[in-house]
Amino acid sequence: MSKNKNNKPVWSTRINKNTSNLFAKVGSSINIDKRLYKQDIKASSAHVEMLLKKKIISLQVKNKISWGLQKILNEINKKKFLFNSKSEDIHMSIEQRLFELIGEDAGFIHTARSRNDQVLVDFKLWMIEATEDIIKELDSSIKLILKIAAKNVYTVMPSFTHLKNAQPISFAHYILAYIEMFSRDKKRFFNNKELLSENPLGVAAIAGTSFDIDREFTTKKLKFKKPTGNSIDTVSDRDFVLDFLYSISVCANHISRFAEEFILWNSDAFDLIKLKDKVVTGSSIMPQKKNPDTLEYLRGKTGNIYGNLFSMLTILKGLPLSYFKDLQDDKELAFKSFDQITISLKIMREVLSNFKINKKKMIQLAQTGYTTATDLADYIVRQYKYPFRKAYLITSKIVNLCENKGKALDELTIDEIKSIDKKLNEDVLKLFNLENSIKSKKSYGGTSFENIKKMIKKYKKNV
Ligand code: ARG
Repeated sequence: MSKNKNNKPVWSTRINKNTSNLFAKVGSSINIDKRLYKQDIKASSAHVEMLLKKKIISLQVKNKISWGLQKILNEINKKKFLFNSKSEDIHMSIEQRLFELIGEDAGFIHTARSRNDQVLVDFKLWMIEATEDIIKELDSSIKLILKIAAKNVYTVMPSFTHLKNAQPISFAHYILAYIEMFSRDKKRFFNNKELLSENPLGVAAIAGTSFDIDREFTTKKLKFKKPTGNSIDTVSDRDFVLDFLYSISVCANHISRFAEEFILWNSDAFDLIKLKDKVVTGSSIMPQKKNPDTLEYLRGKTGNIYGNLFSMLTILKGLPLSYFKDLQDDKELAFKSFDQITISLKIMREVLSNFKINKKKMIQLAQTGYTTATDLADYIVRQYKYPFRKAYLITSKIVNLCENKGKALDELTIDEIKSIDKKLNEDVLKLFNLENSIKSKKSYGGTSFENIKKMIKKYKKNV
């Protein structure tokens, strides 16, 4: 708990007994929110400048406080600051140190504010930066995926629905799907900045303040767009934390789906890709093993990230307006999710930089499971003006024939094909070629090589 110059908690005149040791320990958040020291000092500096401008404090007091705050900033940066575990939080800790440095004038700093708005301004400032950091991580990931795609336009693989072979695609097309996902993530984080740009400083504890403050001044100074509109909502609102945790959850979900796919494809059963030694680990007993632990880590940690979102939702669920101690956990959850998503994106890039594609196996797998059957059905529709359902039926019969004879579609003879429908001729054999199948998917957003090249160009412009 923070003490004033008499080495007593600021509320010691009202609360005579020391807080239970046990609670003081668990109720203190200093070890978590010390991470907000820069933002706390920045916001306090803006606050005292405003107090001076509005003649609420004198120039002399303002200068003393500003000097003290700078000194504290230096101390912390130089690791010479004692984050006393007895301080309740970073705000009390800095205020306490200010008392030690400049004496009673330090007390002016808390004029016209409360920790309720103070913590929010710090937290929002931190979150704006964190959001920008995540956007940068996403940009690096998108750039890397683009490089991989550009090298693999003509790498043929099967696509899957229900994990059953579906239709031939280009590996580039597959990996570009992740660019769409990460670009949406970027946009989500970008959009979050709009609500983060509302300045909470100046709403004080809950009702606003009787001092003639200038919230526009601190808004500008701290680079927010506007002051928040309702003091009660401001100190109660943690929607921006939910947005942050949700956006991180969606991004982690994308990483996790990628991880799961690569785990499957790297398995001995699929054998479509091979992770290099840098991103696998061994077994303590089975000497032959190279396990994709990195990917399993990414998939597993997604659970923690969802947990943080659900914790926050649950904390808020039954909470009347406005501030309660329950809310103190918001920072731990946001910090944990932020740290995790940052490391997860980096690890994902390590994996993406350390795998090899088994092109032979990809083609082989794309050739199994009659993946070009839809091409035949489409051809029949175009060629004979049949309704799609009729063409589908004919094609199903051809697939059945293949299955009975133990042949692939391109192994059928023209007589065998004609036994299903006389109209069909040797032209259909071309349809079973994987590359032709891919080339034909020219609809916007489809897998044709030409489309992919255009999309790569388009994505390149955006990063
Ligand atoms: N450490 C507190 C938190 O993060 C700061 C706000 C304290 N306000 C209060 N009324 N106790 O929630």
